[in-house]
Amino acid sequence: MKFFLDTAEIEQIQHYAALGLVDGVTTNPSLIAKSGGDFLAVIQEIAQLIPGPVSAECLATDVATMEQEGRYLAGLAENIAVKVPLTVEGLKVCKVLSDDGIVVNVTLCFSAAQALLAAKVGARFISPFVGRLDDLGECGMDLVASIREIYDQYAFDTEILVASVRPPLHVVEAATIGADVATMPPKVLAQLYNHPLTDKGLAAFLADWDATGKPRKIL
Ligand code: G3P
Repeated sequence: MKFFLDTAEIEQIQHYAALGLVDGVTTNPSLIAKSGGDFLAVIQEIAQLIPGPVSAECLATDVATMEQEGRYLAGLAENIAVKVPLTVEGLKVCKVLSDDGIVVNVTLCFSAAQALLAAKVGARFISPFVGRLDDLGECGMDLVASIREIYDQYAFDTEILVASVRPPLHVVEAATIGADVATMPPKVLAQLYNHPLTDKGLAAFLADWDATGKPRKIL
């Protein structure tokens, strides 16, 4: 499963990219607004930092302007994925851009029916928002499992990009279901590798070594 970072914070992206675990980045208007940077400059900088897909979301909601924005965003760098909302307008734009070879990520997916439509119009990525479904007392991961089943049934090559990831368990569940990508805030990525028993175990190993009076040095 690929790991994307869900952030527009350049320093965080640089930090986590150095771990070798980041396959791409997703942004949305909220995240870019929070970063305080200029929309296009932020997208271009991220696209230079990360070779994998960098999702940049259109701001327009009408077909003509959304398509225009999508084409412009796609022209910024070879690794841009144009993000459109799962509205009828977004589906129309997904179809025309995908037919022209532009990578499209259809976002704000909350049902299997929506995911089926996105695949039919050629989306490279579908983004089910699991955390926001959990917030409503539904099970976001049930949606991911349904989409997986439907896409496999028809061999759609649209990738399931699990978004709105909150606890680290979401990432494990997404991997268990066979989602293609999980996009996560940097904090969640850190939560995947931090474990108190690892820290405790390492401290004990080194304390035992130190008790020999020998230096911590092999070579
Ligand atoms: O990837 C979508 C994400 O940015 C939304 O997350 O936590 O605001 O639902 P959240």
